[in-house]
Amino acid sequence: MTKCIAFHSYKGGTGKTTLAANFAALLALRGYRVVLLDLDVYAPSLQSYFDTNPKKWINDFLFDKAQIEDILLDFTPILTSVSKRSSIDNNFPTKGKEKSAHLDALKGKLWVGFCNSKKEEIYKLEGGSATTGKQDSSKIHLLRRFIFLRELIISDYHADYVIIDTSPGIRYWSINALAVADVLLLTLKMGDLDVAGTKKVSEEIYGSFTKFGTKSFLLWNRVAGYCIPHNLQNLSPTTSGVMASDMQPGMNIQSRFGRDHSLLSKSSYLIDEQRVTERNMKNLLSNETGMEVISAIPCYCDIQFSRKEFLTVLEHPEHPFTNQFNMLIDAVARI
Ligand SMILES: Nc1ncnc2c1ncn2[C@@H]1O[C@H](COP(=O)(O)OP(=O)(O)O)[C@@H](O)[C@H]1O
Ligand SMILES: [Mg+2]
Repeated sequence: MTKCIAFHSYKGGTGKTTLAANFAALLALRGYRVVLLDLDVYAPSLQSYFDTNPKKWINDFLFDKAQIEDILLDFTPILTSVSKRSSIDNNFPTKGKEKSAHLDALKGKLWVGFCNSKKEEIYKLEGGSATTGKQDSSKIHLLRRFIFLRELIISDYHADYVIIDTSPGIRYWSINALAVADVLLLTLKMGDLDVAGTKKVSEEIYGSFTKFGTKSFLLWNRVAGYCIPHNLQNLSPTTSGVMASDMQPGMNIQSRFGRDHSLLSKSSYLIDEQRVTERNMKNLLSNETGMEVISAIPCYCDIQFSRKEFLTVLEHPEHPFTNQFNMLIDAVARI
């Protein structure tokens, strides 16, 4: 049965697009048939993760100007090429579960539908005309087309997963995207936490969907609160929780920092302090919103400060971010 998952947030810049794109790519790499849709209609940015210039957009489908096959672009080849390259590259894990994931990539599929970022197209989706400034009554028709798009994805593409990147907040198209989803992942960013806003979304919006069986969770992103190079997190091998989950076999502090034990103990102290804060915040969030934190993803410098967006799970299969995503996928599969 198809599972539809929406990445949403109260505020912008929490990592929805990054998480949705990586989630979809990793699912496909694990052998699933995946459709990723950019429904952040007010500020689409999914394109930056896929070097492409679509001729047709989701907008065209909604306005009856394109067929589904025109707007869902097949990105499966990027899985195969990364998978092949990785198997040559010694960094790619080739044991056990990872090896089977590598082989599964051959049967996984990834289609992506993009949204047009032109001002007039955004305005049209809001049911207005850029030239006259008048609202029209086409919104219901657009919504019907959107629901039809989801039906076609299920019936014609036999998708295992539909992943939706949404607009933040409580806006017409964010609500539409949430309405067609089975699982809502409300993304929060640690450095910019808004407990009141999150509570508002969970009570006013999510409540009306969860009543009918939709599941919702908090997804905590960029957890460290400040940027941690991913190899520094392995400094404290005895620690548990988020950081320990990032431990990579074969990576150790001695090989990286030699005898600099003061750096080791300072970093371990920081990480331990941080973990206590995280645990307290997690409890506070869950208590306030009534939603469980499904995963906590640390902030990584190499992702944050990269000049160009990239799909970490494909470019760096050995990265702890990828590890974290494998666990997130397992958690979502259990829902
Ligand atoms: N876990 C993470 N670690 C480091 N940088 C991240 C992480 N998640 C997201 N980012 C970065 O944060 C920025 C905002 O993310 P984005 O996905 O565009 O947010 P949104 O879609 O919610 O507006 C991007 O530059 C992205 O690379
Ligand atoms: Mg975005």
